[in-house]
Amino acid sequence: MGESQPGILAPVPKLARYLNFSLKAGVAPGAALRELVKLADGNQVVVGIGLPAVLALGKSIAGLRPFPTHFGVGLILSSTSSPLWCWLRGHDRGDLLHASKKIADAVSAAFNLDSVIDAFNYGTGRDLTGYEDGTENPQGKKAVDAAIVSERGKGLDGSSFVAAQLWMHDFKAFDAMSSAEQDNAIGRRKSDNQELRDAPASSHVKRTAQESFDPEAFVLRRSMPWAEGIRGGLNFVAFGKSFDGFEAQLKRMVGAEDGITDALFKFTLPISGSYFWCPPMLEGKLDLRALGL
Ligand code: HEM
Repeated sequence: MGESQPGILAPVPKLARYLNFSLKAGVAPGAALRELVKLADGNQVVVGIGLPAVLALGKSIAGLRPFPTHFGVGLILSSTSSPLWCWLRGHDRGDLLHASKKIADAVSAAFNLDSVIDAFNYGTGRDLTGYEDGTENPQGKKAVDAAIVSERGKGLDGSSFVAAQLWMHDFKAFDAMSSAEQDNAIGRRKSDNQELRDAPASSHVKRTAQESFDPEAFVLRRSMPWAEGIRGGLNFVAFGKSFDGFEAQLKRMVGAEDGITDALFKFTLPISGSYFWCPPMLEGKLDLRALGL
């Protein structure tokens, strides 16, 4: 069993920053990624490498593919193929700023820092709508089985595939819904987090119930609320041993399976969508052997 970046399995931190980079034209990213290895401990800095960077190195990682925009029917989604993603985990905004600057400098030979999303833990792990998020996450060994690659050999075992989507909430639309409509949209009661037995088929938890898929579609969600000015929403993040579980859930959410769209879309929309491969660790450092580094 390979060692995973420890921040993946650890609980969600109090504060975080998500750094999204683009590739500079005509520069091979190998040397910049080697610089990143010196800084990223996999815990305070979790790293995901996107398909554009892997292709620029002339390599491939089986299972790493572009983020899907649609499934033939249903809604069209934003797909933003970013080459590099860093999830900075911490508890102090000042420290996170300094860490962001260090990382941006370290990789600047090949990557531009395109966007920084400030994220935080809200109350007892709630989404900004007030609903508890993460309740049905797999725990312990089940979390490892869902999120971490195994039996694929050195350089891949211990790695993980992460889907990241920035969702922007329309708080006016959400506030205009009655509390019964809101509970039905999620499929849980906001007041006590109880699952509604008679939740409609469009409710989010009915759409995504992980054991209802064949094969079962377990993922490890590590989403965090984000805010900028008075805009905000959820930075949805799900780690998997592949993208298949996430994609099965997303397909059902957009209505591609049965024409029923997830009620979440009444008040929130994804404005980005990216897939990354999170390399494993070897002796406390990111292991980039699979990329020939
Ligand atoms: C703004 C976007 C989203 C919000 C506010 C949201 C919120 C929630 C909430 C409140 C729950 C119930 C508690 C829990 O088990 O965590 C939940 C469950 C879940 N969500 Fe989301 N979610 C969002 C997007 C997504 C997306 C994009 C996916 C995957 C494609 C997803 C997958 C899941 C899964 C797998 C569960 C657990 C279902 C189960 O097995 O019971 N969510 N979400």
